[in-house]
Amino acid sequence: MKTELYVYTGTGNSLWVARQLIVELKEAALEFMPYLSGDLEVEADRVGIIFPVHIWGLPARVIRFINHLKMKPETNFFAVAVNAGQPAATLLQLQKLMSTRKLSLSLGYSIVLPSNYIPWGGPGPVETQQRLFRNAQDKVKAIAQAVLTGERKKVDRGPLWQNIPFSWFYKMSFRHVPKMDKKFWVDDKCNGCEICFKVCPAGNIEMKNEKPSWLHRCEQCLACIQWCPQEAIQYGKKTVKYQRYHHPEVILQNMLDQANAFGAGNLKPR
Ligand SMILES: Cc1cc2nc3c(=O)[nH]c(=O)nc-3n(C[C@H](O)[C@H](O)[C@H](O)COP(=O)(O)O)c2cc1C
Ligand code: SF4
Ligand code: SF4
Repeated sequence: MKTELYVYTGTGNSLWVARQLIVELKEAALEFMPYLSGDLEVEADRVGIIFPVHIWGLPARVIRFINHLKMKPETNFFAVAVNAGQPAATLLQLQKLMSTRKLSLSLGYSIVLPSNYIPWGGPGPVETQQRLFRNAQDKVKAIAQAVLTGERKKVDRGPLWQNIPFSWFYKMSFRHVPKMDKKFWVDDKCNGCEICFKVCPAGNIEMKNEKPSWLHRCEQCLACIQWCPQEAIQYGKKTVKYQRYHHPEVILQNMLDQANAFGAGNLKPR
């Protein structure tokens, strides 16, 4: 049975989950989730979709991906929504979206990993992060088992108190995401290395006078702020004092590979 995993990531958590799944599933191919403008024909019998929860819902890239998928009707889907403890109704949203395309999600899991949402703070103490990594590894094993045995069950979801208000908030904020980059700024530590420009999966950064400038088609993945080696990118006022984060087993080259797969890495600095 041919299995393909499609992953989208800002700071490597989702990529790490996908890699762990590949180990458990034995034979599966890993692809970065492309930003599709035309249909994508996927021949696999089983497709896994692994992505971060953004503002209590699906990132735009995931929605676009599903909307452009061309699949065999019998294809088996599973999904992992990687989050920092509040998956809300993201997997229900995915399930509904897929049903409008006559695709069926057999399994949908939440995995909690350290938060990369730096406007609200750092990733938390190292011991807590390590506990989350261990728990995630156990959950990946259970997910792989369910996938391999062809199970179907209800998708993971947050409690109602979370889903109702936050799904509403998601709907209200979704269309504003591309312009949320207006809060990025760069401090004196910037040395013009262009890593932010290269790592952005959306081609949303240009270099002007050796400094990054944001183009308002942002996906809020936060790769730029989290991977800047000088910690020179800030978002609003508070990030100056917050610790940066990326998954410890994911390296910059992996992120550059993702950006290149999107074609963003081929853009030239202006
Ligand atoms: C814009 C943005 C919004 C986020 N919203 C949520 C959220 O609603 N609930 C949650 O639990 N985590 C949220 N997070 C945290 C990420 O889902 C979490 O850190 C995830 O592990 C990041 O995965 P990645 O490294 O693959 O990008 C958000 C992160 C970003 C960047
Ligand atoms: S990654 Fe950081 S140091 Fe390098 S150009 Fe971007 S902001 Fe400047
Ligand atoms: S500008 Fe930064 S936050 Fe926005 S899509 Fe690019 S890397 Fe992600």
